[in-house]
Amino acid sequence: MAKKLKLEKSNQLYEDALKLIPGAILGIRRPYNFVEGEYPIFFEKGKGGKVIDVDGNEFLDMLCAYGPIIIGHREEEIDDVVIQQIKNKGFCMSLTQQVQNKLAKKLIELIPCCEKAVFVKTGSEATTIAIRVARGYTGRIKVLRCGYHGWHSWCVEQKGGIPKKSFEDVYEFEYNNLDQAENIMGQYGNDVAAIILTPIDHQGGHEVQMPKPGFLKGIRKLATKYDSLLIYDEIRTGFRVNLGGAQKKFDVIPDLAAFGKSMANGYPISVCVGKKEYMDALIEKVFITSTFWPNSLAQVAALKTIEILEREMVLDVINERGSRFASKVKDIIKDSGIPCTFSGDPWMPYITFQRDPNFLYKKLREEFYTQLIRRRIFLQPYHHGYVCYRHTDEDLDHAANMIKESLNECKKLL
Ligand SMILES: Cc1ncc(COP(=O)(O)O)c(C=O)c1O
Repeated sequence: MAKKLKLEKSNQLYEDALKLIPGAILGIRRPYNFVEGEYPIFFEKGKGGKVIDVDGNEFLDMLCAYGPIIIGHREEEIDDVVIQQIKNKGFCMSLTQQVQNKLAKKLIELIPCCEKAVFVKTGSEATTIAIRVARGYTGRIKVLRCGYHGWHSWCVEQKGGIPKKSFEDVYEFEYNNLDQAENIMGQYGNDVAAIILTPIDHQGGHEVQMPKPGFLKGIRKLATKYDSLLIYDEIRTGFRVNLGGAQKKFDVIPDLAAFGKSMANGYPISVCVGKKEYMDALIEKVFITSTFWPNSLAQVAALKTIEILEREMVLDVINERGSRFASKVKDIIKDSGIPCTFSGDPWMPYITFQRDPNFLYKKLREEFYTQLIRRRIFLQPYHHGYVCYRHTDEDLDHAANMIKESLNECKKLL
């Protein structure tokens, strides 16, 4: 029996935060997204593939800050170029610094649809810019979407505080359901500015889905047929499944795309990229700007991160280790007889429990993730995990063993 973690300091900080910040913590890091009372709430530090919480508990970090950590925490080579930029040049200026051009050239070299790039800070900004460019370029309003694209008014699930006008022209379709997308386009296609989707489906609480043969190509054709732009939301897939994103991996090229998360190993940067003809709508038709977008720290971090990804073939290594881990865990799940599934391999490992009318899956999920966190493997019940470069085969073998033990504990619920 693994013991419950000591979490006094986390809990105390949470009590304090409740008085300081609405709900203490925003978004997906809130305690109810884990197992309340079992998971830490505050981290102290990280190094490589490990993190330590404020009570001193150490974990194998398989959530990787929800995606940005592609190499590892506190990578000296990346942090050093950031520190040099701070010390030698400065990073917040009245004019743009030249590193912007260097980074744009690199992205044009790597990402198939990228002929021009606009650097921003968050994924939500990058997807929203892509939508605004598509609407500005086409002069159309309607949008088809599939996946999570951030918190902005046109796409966020929770509609509180948002006028209906902001999202009433946005239609959702299911991933891998080409018929449904065709039907919606059949009805509204001539008014549709863009179809936006995540090329891999990774919605919260559900198995990660890979594209069925013909799905991505079918959506590409559909957008072209109606003169709508195709946008890939590569915020999670970019600089993870391939250096050129999922568009390169699956060889289906969109018109515009949003990248972010892992492109700078944790430094805040995202980018809207695309074909020149469409991106040039930003010259006169469409206006965007922000005080902090040209801030160069994350830009130098991105260049260095990409240099390491290329030099050390990081994505190939992650692919290989992630595949090995996946095959082990799949065998463990099969032997366990517990009704759960492993998906997302090799990049986004996720164990989900098969839904049943008696909601046994909820109990199994809670028990499994409780046992796993007690064994110091940091994964999330409602979100897939990630493999980073600093996760060694030994780390992942250990995680697989802890998954085995945790599933064994679940048997008492059957
Ligand atoms: C696919 C996808 N698009 C957009 C976003 C929004 O990015 P951000 O949280 O940086 O605004 C996310 C964030 O998780 C994402 O996963």
